[in-house]
Amino acid sequence: MGLSEQIQEIIDDARRAVDAVASTAALEQERVRLLGKKGALTGLLRSMGQLPAEERPAAGQMINQARETITQLLEGAESALAEKELAQRLVDEKLDVTEPRQLMRVGVPHPTTMVLNEVLDCFIGMGFEVVEGPQVELDHYNFELLNIPKNHPARDAQDTFYIDDNIVLRTHTSPVQARTMLSRKPPIRIICPGRVFRADEVDATHSPVFHQIEGLVIDRDVTMGDLRGTLAAFGKRLYGDDTRLRFRPSFFPFTEPSAEVDLTCFNCHGEGCRVCKGTGWIEVLGCGMVNPKVLDMCGIPSDEYTGFAFGIGLERITMLRYGIPDMRLLFEGDERFARQFR
Ligand code: PHE
Repeated sequence: MGLSEQIQEIIDDARRAVDAVASTAALEQERVRLLGKKGALTGLLRSMGQLPAEERPAAGQMINQARETITQLLEGAESALAEKELAQRLVDEKLDVTEPRQLMRVGVPHPTTMVLNEVLDCFIGMGFEVVEGPQVELDHYNFELLNIPKNHPARDAQDTFYIDDNIVLRTHTSPVQARTMLSRKPPIRIICPGRVFRADEVDATHSPVFHQIEGLVIDRDVTMGDLRGTLAAFGKRLYGDDTRLRFRPSFFPFTEPSAEVDLTCFNCHGEGCRVCKGTGWIEVLGCGMVNPKVLDMCGIPSDEYTGFAFGIGLERITMLRYGIPDMRLLFEGDERFARQFR
């Protein structure tokens, strides 16, 4: 068989083989078989040495042309196969994003958390800074510095959990204010949210664990008018623009004068209804001008500075805000309850 017939046979074989190949991996095997070191074409190239010198250039040219032809066959097949394989992968790996599936359950913020965030927002907007402190507190900060000495009757009102003679579960967040006064110089404008504890029986309006948000402002020339304006802004933010407030005289050892603050009933807007027991007003917080004795004990000269303080019961204003009739609902952690207030 002459050289050109041999070459033609190799090309025919290559064409059949490439046509039959079904994957790029199999095609790669064919490339090695046809053009590799052990391939028929390479064999021919090697045997050229046996040809007479004058026939070699023509033979070399034919073999190279054949190599070129086979390379083109392989390349043509390769791009067609790659396209087919991609199309197949797109079919195989298709995801139906509309297919129904088990939905992940996502929780919701607790109503108490939502009201807390709103109150903090309101006071931060007025320039207050949020400060926190320990829940297990020294008697000194919880009582003494707030003008509630040992054996003072005001201690009874707080139903304190004692850890020992000097350590208590804080009964209010006022100790955070005492700590802040001791560690900073005026002007002071802070809001102190946190968990507090009192030895109360659980009922619809009491819990041994609840939350307060207390505020404190100390500067030169702070007046009761400033207190009133600050609380009015808070009342409107929480219960609507037509909310009015009234001060009733009261007593706290750490403020003088002291007041209880009522807001117009969010339900009847002052007409009188079941929620406000017909009075049109709802008691919301305690407040007053910081007692000069407290300022002095906490290292702030009372002849130079004045201040006001207020304390809000977070559960109470949450119940009022959403019309929740029983405080226990806030502590049960029932997700179906929390979902109602989004
Ligand atoms: N600390 C008081 C309380 O628990 C609340 C309060 C704070 C009253 C500040 C007046 C001023 O009960």
